Amino acid sequence: MSHDARKRAAAAAALTLVEPGMRLGLGTGSTARHFVDLLAARVAAGLAVICVPTSEATRAQAEAGGITLTTLDETPELDLTVDGADELDDELRLIKGGGGALLREKIVAAASRRMVVIADDSKLVDCLGRFPLPVEVNPFGYRATLHALKQTLAGQGFDGVALTRRQKPDGAAFVTDGGHWIVDCALQRIAAPEALSRALLQIPGVVEHGLFLGLCRKAYVATETGLAEIGPNA
Ligand code: 5RP
Repeated sequence: MSHDARKRAAAAAALTLVEPGMRLGLGTGSTARHFVDLLAARVAAGLAVICVPTSEATRAQAEAGGITLTTLDETPELDLTVDGADELDDELRLIKGGGGALLREKIVAAASRRMVVIADDSKLVDCLGRFPLPVEVNPFGYRATLHALKQTLAGQGFDGVALTRRQKPDGAAFVTDGGHWIVDCALQRIAAPEALSRALLQIPGVVEHGLFLGLCRKAYVATETGLAEIGPNA
């Protein structure tokens, strides 16, 4: 099975959790895109749900698919969010933000009674960090924030790691839906994600980071041989 077929299989599994009347958070990325696609087919067949997208890209896809959208201002509590991940470990700790939507993804996940991750098995890791950790920063005072980020990371045992401001193919800074920049941090191995999370959030110019800790309740991970479920209800 191709990676894409695995992503779709994980998305199809998560669709079984959706019930009529639910308030849903819709994730961002190629795996979440499968979920939105499958959900749109259910909506076309009569399923009534209302959804909050985690990015403008997902908003456009959902609108095109005829899915009814709402906002967290109108609907501050959601039943279920389904989203992809760049990495997950067996404690359901995640790295997200490869698609640049981590801030809205985290706000939406935190507003949900349940967050479920869908992924192919290439995302499952023993230790988080091989995927560069995205840190979303305010462009104001960028150099000062970058300096503070280096100092903070050194204090957490990550001295001299490569920090790269994310760019678009034309070389301009990648700008998130919220108007911020992203610094990708090549940490390789994050042994203590909780301590790192706390430290990063102390930096005033850091808006959010891609460690999702204590948010995901269940994951559907599609493998070559079938679907693995990770989580309390597995
Ligand atoms: C976007 C994300 C995505 O969920 C993550 O990058 C996984 O994407 P994909 O399903 O395309 O591998 O966090 O900000």
